[in-house]
Amino acid sequence: MAWTREQRYRHYSSYSTTLIDSLEKQAATSQYKPKFHISPKSGLLNDPNGFSFFDGQWHVFYQAFPFGPVHGLKSWVHCVSNDLVHWQNLSIALPAGGRYDSHGAYSGSAQVIDNQLFLMYTGNVRTQDWQRESFQNGAWMDKDNHITKLTEPLIKQPTYVTDHFRDPQLLKINHEYYALIGAQDKKTLKGEIALFQSNDLKNWHDLGYVKHNLHDLGFMVECPNLVDVDGKKVLIFCPQGLPQDELKTTNIYPNVYAIADHFDFEQNYFEAENGEMVQLDEGFDVYASQAFNAPDGNAYLISWIGLPEIAYPTDKENWAHCLSMVKQLKIIDGQLYQQPVAAMSKLRDYEQKLPQKQRILIEKAGQQYELQLTLGANQTGDLLLASDGTTEHALQLKFNTIDGKLTVDRSNVGEKFGVEFGEQRQIRLDPNAPLMLDIFVDHSVCEIFVNDGQKVLTLRYFADESHTKIAFSDEKLMNYTGQYFALNDM
Ligand code: FRU
Repeated sequence: MAWTREQRYRHYSSYSTTLIDSLEKQAATSQYKPKFHISPKSGLLNDPNGFSFFDGQWHVFYQAFPFGPVHGLKSWVHCVSNDLVHWQNLSIALPAGGRYDSHGAYSGSAQVIDNQLFLMYTGNVRTQDWQRESFQNGAWMDKDNHITKLTEPLIKQPTYVTDHFRDPQLLKINHEYYALIGAQDKKTLKGEIALFQSNDLKNWHDLGYVKHNLHDLGFMVECPNLVDVDGKKVLIFCPQGLPQDELKTTNIYPNVYAIADHFDFEQNYFEAENGEMVQLDEGFDVYASQAFNAPDGNAYLISWIGLPEIAYPTDKENWAHCLSMVKQLKIIDGQLYQQPVAAMSKLRDYEQKLPQKQRILIEKAGQQYELQLTLGANQTGDLLLASDGTTEHALQLKFNTIDGKLTVDRSNVGEKFGVEFGEQRQIRLDPNAPLMLDIFVDHSVCEIFVNDGQKVLTLRYFADESHTKIAFSDEKLMNYTGQYFALNDM
């Protein structure tokens, strides 16, 4: 069904509870519904927001349109966890519909301030003639998870940006507050990151665009995040519309990072190492990631697994997308590593050592598992997941530990989608070296951590549930070790 603008922006109160109940039932019974990833109870989920630790719990919110698989009137849905693995969905917490967020409570972040959680987010407003106005708004959440919006915006749209001005990341540095905001310059129509400063969260000073040594930020930057990782400053963001040769990705829009020794707030300058931005996730479906520095000293990241402007097979079941597992960030040998948080092991049900000298490694892998597999150096082969034992029906991981290559191919795994953006993704690794894979599968989600998180490839796939084999594609015996863990629901 094609959704009209009027349908996308109807007030939530105009929908019946019967409709919501039936949408929730439909999503819950989907064979594709992830069981240990945050996914929407109904409708569409997109960016993670307000990822934080407050009052002894982890909090993450997500962008939601609960009434269908489309980008409509967005609100924040609230989820809490004690371990970053088991999440409880507390439902809509920051609804759209106020004077300064009448057409969406868009993405933003959170900081613990004076024993409350302060949320800073973009209010999307449309005028009668559908002109967009973007406001950066604030709200307080108390320890009972009760949210009160501020009555006036914190920051209004400066005259030098277009209406694409959103996704504030609120930072607290010593006694000052800063906000990094994604923007599009009105004159050049180029992507920029705007910086604002405040001493009291009320009066905000415009510090202009962040100056940097990166080459091109496309036509718009979404979801900028600055995070401390092992003594470095890592800037994570989504530059839309980069020239194809700027990054080796065919994803519709990339999510990237750049590393610097420090961020010069005085000069408003970020000097990326080698003037380089790197793709955050080398798979097909990661976007709008959000990272923060937690009080335990670690930096954590969570991503939207989904991309804008692409139809996914669950659209016909009236729900779409999910969030990634939480990943811990590290810098090792100058590179950003992403690793599953240690508490993920709590999901393990039973463990099976992989049999040796076999083509079929696991006959009935099911839909929820972790596979740890180390492939010896100097061999080539094809690992099949979600397979009937053939390459005709399988998610294929083609490895070459001679030259150091891994290719993920989803062209033969179930329902097709996003085909125009390519069905393969390839990464380069050290040649003549073993390849360590830690793979998490959750129904239609696959997160592949390579060499301890040096690279990550995340993807959705929509395969027939009866295809449960994990196997190599040919009879040639491979040199490998590993284990399989069945995983529980979160
Ligand atoms: C990124 C994004 C943000 C915006 C939000 C709206 O996916 O477009 O820029 O705030 O989604 O849901």
